Amino acid sequence: MNSPASQPLRSVRWSGDASGSLILVDQTLIPLETRELDLRTVEEVWEAIKMLRVRGAPAIGCAAAYGVVVGAQTHLNSPRDAFVARVAEVCDYLAESRPTAVNLFWALDRMRAVAGASSLETPQELLEELLDTARAIETEDREMCAAIGRHGAALLPDNIGILTHCNAGGLATAGDGTALAIMFEAAAQGKNIHVYADETRPLLQGARLTTWELMQRNVPVTLICDSMAGWAMKEGRVQAVITGADRIAANGDSANKIGTYSVALLAKAHGIPFYIAAPSSTFDLSLETGEDIPIEERNPEEITHGFGRQTAPTGVAVYNPAFDVVPASHIQGIVTEKGVISPVTTENVRALLGSNG
Ligand code: MRU
Repeated sequence: MNSPASQPLRSVRWSGDASGSLILVDQTLIPLETRELDLRTVEEVWEAIKMLRVRGAPAIGCAAAYGVVVGAQTHLNSPRDAFVARVAEVCDYLAESRPTAVNLFWALDRMRAVAGASSLETPQELLEELLDTARAIETEDREMCAAIGRHGAALLPDNIGILTHCNAGGLATAGDGTALAIMFEAAAQGKNIHVYADETRPLLQGARLTTWELMQRNVPVTLICDSMAGWAMKEGRVQAVITGADRIAANGDSANKIGTYSVALLAKAHGIPFYIAAPSSTFDLSLETGEDIPIEERNPEEITHGFGRQTAPTGVAVYNPAFDVVPASHIQGIVTEKGVISPVTTENVRALLGSNG
C-alpha cells in the first residue's frame, strides 16, 4: 500500500478497531520507496521485525505490542482461558524475533501482564483492552520522544556539528525519534546545527534512513562512511556525538548499533562529548552491566552480499554482530524523557528512573 502523501509518515500504526491490522512503513525500501505494509498475521509481524522492515528499539516495541493484538484475533471464539494462553504464546513467539532491543520484551511483558491480570470476561473485551494497551505504548513513546528532544536540545550550543550513527529518528520510534528528536528540536529552536550521518555498515541505516529523515525536515546533513568519523572529528567538524540505544544496563553501559563503540572511543580521543538518547523503556535494570546484554548476530550475507551484490569471496569467514556496547565511562550523559543522567553511574540511573526503569 502506498503511503498517503497528505499524512505525516508514521512508522507504526494501527488501522481500525480491534478487528483491524498493523500498518508499518517498510523501512527496507527507503529512500527509494515509501510503502506501507498491512500486517494481518503474527507470522507477518515476526518476519517484519526479523527482517528490519520495522526497526529501532522503540518502534520494535510498538510493533510487537500491536502484533500481540494481531496474534490474539485468531482466538476470539475460544474459551477465555484459551484466549489468555494464546496471548502468552504470541508473546513468546514474538520475543524470538530479535534479542537485543529490550523495548521488545518490555512491550511484550506489558501486554502479557494486561491479559493475565484483566478482570474482563470475554475474549472480545480482552482483545479491546490489549489494543488500548498497545495504543498507550505508542502514545507514550511519542511523548517520550518529545521530552527527550527538549532535554537534549538544552545541552547543545549554537553553531554545532553533531555526529550520529545508525538511525534513531522517527522511523525508529512512534514519534520524532530519540537522538534525532534532539536535532529536530534544536533546529526548531533556531540553533545552527549540521549533522554528520555515519552510513552504518552493513545495513546502511544512516545512509538510507537518517539522511532521508533529516533532509525531509530541512536539517542540514552530510553523509560520511563509518571510517571517516575520526577524521571528521580531527578536522573540527564535530562538537558532539548523539546516538540512540537498544538496551541500557543499570550502570549505564549502552548497547547500540555496531560501530557505536568505535565512535565513542573516537569522541573520547578528541575530547568530544558522547551522548546517548533513549526512553526509560530502553533501560534494563535487571542487568548490572553491559557485559550481560545479548548481542544479536545476523546473517553473514548482509556483509558478503549487501543489497544484492557479492562483495567478498565465496566461503569467506564472516563475523556479523549487529550491536556493540559503549561503557558508561565513555558517555557524557544519557538523555531520557525524565531528564539527563550525568555523570552516568548506577546511582544516577536509579535516582532518575526509580523502580520504573
Ligand atoms: O538493527 P536496528 O536498525 O534495529 O538498530 C537500531 C539502532 O541501533 C538504533 O540506534 C536504536 O535502536 C535506537 S532507535 C531510537
